[in-house]
Amino acid sequence: MKLSAVTLLSILGSVSAFAPSLIGSRASTHLDARKPFISGNWKLNPQTREEAVSLATDIAGKITDSSPDADVALFVPYVFLESAMGAVDSKLMVGAEGVCPEVKGAFTGAVSTSMLDSVGVQWALAGHSERRMIFGETDDLINAQCLKIIGQGMSVMLCIGESESEYEQNLAGNVCAIQLRKGLNGISKEQMDRVVIAYEPVWAIGTGKVATPETAQSVHASCRAILAEMYDQETADATRILYGGSVTPESVDELMGQPDIDGALVGGASLDCEKFGRIINFQA
Ligand code: 13P
Repeated sequence: MKLSAVTLLSILGSVSAFAPSLIGSRASTHLDARKPFISGNWKLNPQTREEAVSLATDIAGKITDSSPDADVALFVPYVFLESAMGAVDSKLMVGAEGVCPEVKGAFTGAVSTSMLDSVGVQWALAGHSERRMIFGETDDLINAQCLKIIGQGMSVMLCIGESESEYEQNLAGNVCAIQLRKGLNGISKEQMDRVVIAYEPVWAIGTGKVATPETAQSVHASCRAILAEMYDQETADATRILYGGSVTPESVDELMGQPDIDGALVGGASLDCEKFGRIINFQA
């Protein structure tokens, strides 16, 4: 369970005169504690339903009584959704990798939120950088997807993140602020409990170049500050912000130790049940 640095400082500021020994502790309150969230994004993998069922079954088997108290989800290709849900037997959540914001009609190849909802899917990704860059999805389209997912009563994981050149120009915070504001446009404070943010710097995705815990922490803190501006501090403190980009068993513990990193969105390592199992069983 996590408190943002801002909240922690304000709590410590208000109590420190009476309880100086609390300074530096990670004590949390039930009011704004955030449950960790570990998720895998399978992208265009694996190649057959048999492999998908076997991988989902093996990953579910890694969740034991001694695992951290965390939400776990797999975002999988549409055709594997129902088989994967059957395989994991409610031990974890299975979500879609995207949605079409249209409800019905002449949109060849598209899948709507009502179709997903009707087969029991409650989560979907929006805004992944591969959708933005390879499929040309714009902030407006991503916002329409978020609104449709929320309107359907489902939950959305909104992905944001800067390119390598934007990172080198020190623009990570600005890019994330724009993507957050545009992606969440029209989503109310009350609906934010069905939104999770995933910060995925594009230069770290599939490259083996994981952001340092300090870099990721600083962008996460700035995203939380934007959420506080858009909504309020309570909403910002309650919203989970995950890190994604080359997360491995070797990097997860230190990342999860950062005060504003509430989980991980994992690509490549989520296709390996030993690796993803270790990530689910992070130690922070
Ligand atoms: P990798 O973990 O393979 O870098 O992918 C991250 C990602 O894009 C998850 O959505």
